[in-house]
Amino acid sequence: MTTGTLPRIMAITNQKGGVGKTTTAINLATAMSAVGKKVLLLDLDPQGNASTGLGIRRADIRHSTYDVLFNEVAVMDTVMETKVPGLSIVPSSIHLSGAEIELVTADNREFRLRDALRIPLPFDYVIIDCPPSLNLLTLNALVASDTILVPLQCEFYALEGLSHLVKTIERVKKAFNPALDIHGVVLTMYDKRNNLSTMVAEDVRKFFGDKVYKTVIPRNVRVSEAPSFGLPAIVYDMRCPGATAYIHLASEVLKRERTLLTPQTATPNADPVAGAA
Ligand SMILES: Nc1ncnc2c1ncn2[C@@H]1O[C@H](COP(=O)(O)OP(=O)(O)O)[C@@H](O)[C@H]1O
Ligand SMILES: [Mg+2]
Repeated sequence: MTTGTLPRIMAITNQKGGVGKTTTAINLATAMSAVGKKVLLLDLDPQGNASTGLGIRRADIRHSTYDVLFNEVAVMDTVMETKVPGLSIVPSSIHLSGAEIELVTADNREFRLRDALRIPLPFDYVIIDCPPSLNLLTLNALVASDTILVPLQCEFYALEGLSHLVKTIERVKKAFNPALDIHGVVLTMYDKRNNLSTMVAEDVRKFFGDKVYKTVIPRNVRVSEAPSFGLPAIVYDMRCPGATAYIHLASEVLKRERTLLTPQTATPNADPVAGAA
């Protein structure tokens, strides 16, 4: 039996590969659990980088995200503990690489993840690490989520494809999930010695305004080394600039959460679910 409340569900999404989705998912989840949140990271990328980056060995995986989507295995039966206290994971497996095709003809194909996750769980947050595409797996994440965090790499083509992502989010809102919203945009791999990084950051702030978090994640070799030790950067080297930035990002995210989750006007007998109808 599962006890708990409905967790907040946050998808880490950008259809570009290599922009820092997985790094952000791992380190944000770790920093949030360090301040006492119970966090479940769900690895929705067939490449499984979030799973290996948290030290999960393939041989130890019994059930994966694939089973949650297709074999009707209860999400709690797929959850594995990580070395980070308070942080659990639903690992990815190689089976997930066929999932995109299998989903095309599956019943209820957009809602499979939502139906699996929108139940009381012993977690405050579920953070979904999305694959680098806008396919049916990502669509499942967007339909299941309350909110979206978009990592953007500070490089020349950063904004390319973003209008496509924003349009996709709008379509998902209209068709499947009216309450969905972008929580924020985080600039990753920022290099302050590089003028291009600064220019890209300015452009992104013009485009997204306040949605862009004040915290910027610097390019930092310690961050890229950490996954090969199966550790979040925050555990691998707590004092490196990348780890410090992710700790700041988590506190900014949670601060924004408090604003978002505080009711603006108190309505008597308000039904918290009615707003989504
Ligand atoms: N702040 C950073 N500094 C240095 N390297 C980084 C940083 N963030 C991510 N990386 C590296 O960049 C690559 C892509 O990051 P990743 O998080 O896997 O992106 P995605 O999940 O979007 O494909 C990885 O090798 C990762 O270690
Ligand atoms: Mg990734």
